[in-house]
Amino acid sequence: MTYAPAAKEQPVSDGPRHVAIIMDGNGRWAQARGRPRLFGHHAGARRVREIVEACPGLGVDYLTIFAFSTENWKRTQTEVAGLMSLFRRYIMKEMQEFVRYNVRVRFIGDRLRLEVKLRALMDEAEAMTRDCSGLNLTIAINYGGRDEVARATKRLAVDVAEGRLKPEDVDLETLPRYLDTCVLPDPDLVIRTSGEARISNFLLWQSAYAEYEFIDTLWPDFSARIFSEVLMQYGARERRFGTVRA
Ligand code: IPE
Ligand code: IPE
Ligand code: MG
Repeated sequence: MTYAPAAKEQPVSDGPRHVAIIMDGNGRWAQARGRPRLFGHHAGARRVREIVEACPGLGVDYLTIFAFSTENWKRTQTEVAGLMSLFRRYIMKEMQEFVRYNVRVRFIGDRLRLEVKLRALMDEAEAMTRDCSGLNLTIAINYGGRDEVARATKRLAVDVAEGRLKPEDVDLETLPRYLDTCVLPDPDLVIRTSGEARISNFLLWQSAYAEYEFIDTLWPDFSARIFSEVLMQYGARERRFGTVRA
């Protein structure tokens, strides 16, 4: 199967350029069908393709998806191992398709805790899609906003200690350069599926001024149609960034 441009969707005027999604609800989706949680994760992974395909037609240049948090290690060994194996298979299967569909893939999160085989595949996917100029797809694996800020601060402290950065030069421009997302614009819209109204440690720094949409749909049921409806709602919002209406 190849990625095809979404023909029927129209770009949303004033739509978000960068959409970040907390893909939640796979476990409940599986449970409702009397199946193991991993069944839901597999169904969820299949949905990603549909949303990726829809992005260019909807005017979305950056899509960032939360696949595994720094807190998700607390789940059973079976679920964690199943997810890691799903990530390996997913990357292996989709890599060629990303190139064909001009999708540039990046990963954010702490890779050091991930198994070597998965890390190698992540590196390979990033290298293979380096010249792709279409959608920027960022996949967050072993990602936590607090962990990211802590890792960034550590690197920044090393630069200060070794004389590459002066303490007085640390400001709102400098600090984000140390974050995993240093090459990405801030998200305009953060969507969370499954009805939970929390951010669960996702893009804490970057989403300071994002709009949020909490959708009741469970992630495996989140279709391109629902996605485009959510983007339409975003178009109707007024973003003020601290100012008042002129
Ligand atoms: C989101 O679905 C996927 C991951 C966190 C890996 P969940 O697994 O959290 O599904 P629910 O919230 O239990 O339904
Ligand atoms: C957030 O979902 C993480 C991902 C979607 C990968 P969780 O299901 O882990 O979040 P909590 O535990 O409900 O806050
Ligand atoms: Mg959940």
